[in-house]
Amino acid sequence: MSATLDREFWEERWSQALREHGDTIAKMPPNAHLTDAAGDLRPGRALDAGCGHGSDTLWLAARGWRVTAVDFAATALAHGRATAETVGGDVAARVDWVEGDLATWAPQPEHYDLVACLYVHVAGSVREMVRRMAAGVAPGGTLLLVGHRPVDPATGTATPAAGQVQVSVDEAVAALEPDGWEFVVAADRPRRQAGTGVDAVICARRSNTPPPTNAGQNP
Ligand SMILES: C[S@@+](CC[C@H](N)C(=O)[O-])C[C@H]1O[C@@H](n2cnc3c(N)ncnc32)[C@H](O)[C@@H]1O
Repeated sequence: MSATLDREFWEERWSQALREHGDTIAKMPPNAHLTDAAGDLRPGRALDAGCGHGSDTLWLAARGWRVTAVDFAATALAHGRATAETVGGDVAARVDWVEGDLATWAPQPEHYDLVACLYVHVAGSVREMVRRMAAGVAPGGTLLLVGHRPVDPATGTATPAAGQVQVSVDEAVAALEPDGWEFVVAADRPRRQAGTGVDAVICARRSNTPPPTNAGQNP
C-alpha cells in the first residue's frame, strides 16, 4: 500500500477533520448512490466496509438495518459510535463498529443482505477484494461498490483520488461470476454530492439459486 494511504494516514486525517469540522461531519447526509441502491430494499443485515464517519451506516440503521461497520481508523469509528448515540439508542444498538483492515478482513460468507463498500482505496488486487466482499452477500442480496475515478472526464484534471487504486466498473464486472449476479448498475455516474467528476458505481444482485455446475455439458 502507498505509505500515504495506510492506517496512520487515515487516523491523522480523521483526527484533523473531526477536530476542525466534527459538527458538520456528524450531520453529513448519506451517499446518494447508497440511497438510490438501498432506498427500496427491505432492511436486513448490512455491511458498510470502510464506513469512515458513519453517515451511511447511520442512515441504514435508522431504516432498520442491522449494520456491521468496518474501518481501520479507530478515530472514525469512535466518532460514528458517538454520533449514533446522539441519534438514538435504538439506532446505536443496531450497529456493530468493527476495527478491521479491509486488505485482509473477510465478511462471514453469504451473511449480508447488503454489502456496501464506498470510496475505499484497495491495497492489493481490485478483483480479489471485490470477490472477498461479494462472498459476504446472501443469496438475493445486494452488492454496492463505488469508486472515485482518478480523472475528472469533464476537465481532464486529476481528482483527489489520483494515485489511489479504487474499484472500476470493468474490474468489478470481471470479478463477478456472470451467472451468479444481475447487474442493476454498472456505470460511471456523476458525483452529485461533490458536483464534479464521476464515480464508478456497481450495484449487483446475487442470484437466489447457485449457478449450474454442469453448464455446457451434455445430459
Ligand atoms: C474516502 S473514506 C470513505 C468513507 C465512507 N465509505 C464514505 O463513503 O463516506 C475511506 C475510508 O476507508 C477507510 N479505509 C481505507 N483503507 C482501509 C483498509 N485497508 N481497511 C479498513 N478501512 C480502510 C478509511 O479509514 C476511510 O474511513
